Amino acid sequence: MERRSFIKSCTLLCASGIGIAALMESCGSIHYAASTIETNKIKINKSEFIDKKNAERKFVVVRSEKLDFPICIYKKNETLVAISMQCSHQGCELNPNETSLVCPCHGSEFSKEGKVLSPPADKDLKQFKVITDNETIYIEL
Ligand code: FES
Repeated sequence: MERRSFIKSCTLLCASGIGIAALMESCGSIHYAASTIETNKIKINKSEFIDKKNAERKFVVVRSEKLDFPICIYKKNETLVAISMQCSHQGCELNPNETSLVCPCHGSEFSKEGKVLSPPADKDLKQFKVITDNETIYIEL
């Protein structure tokens, strides 16, 4: 192998490694919280909002066999907002991030409170009532 070809191969290998690491890190930013069902409530431990480095998560996602779509729970100061991740336009599953939820199908965007920020969706997302005690979050279905 020529020197030039060897350097080019090494550069490509390093670049792809960095790309894969960045992709894995971005995938890791969504935390799927462990949950249990109690009659018509989903129960989540508040510790789900703390990551391994003891930093506070801005949101967590909950999946349940009782739901067709997951619920995203955003933490805003001490207030929790639980919203459905089903797009109000044609029902695709939304992709959450720290500031909004974006629809991969036609590009609608919603705020952390589930309000429409960008069309084509024209209805806000379904919100669930949230109750808390010292250690637990309850989402009423
Ligand atoms: S289904 Fe979400 S924008 Fe169309």
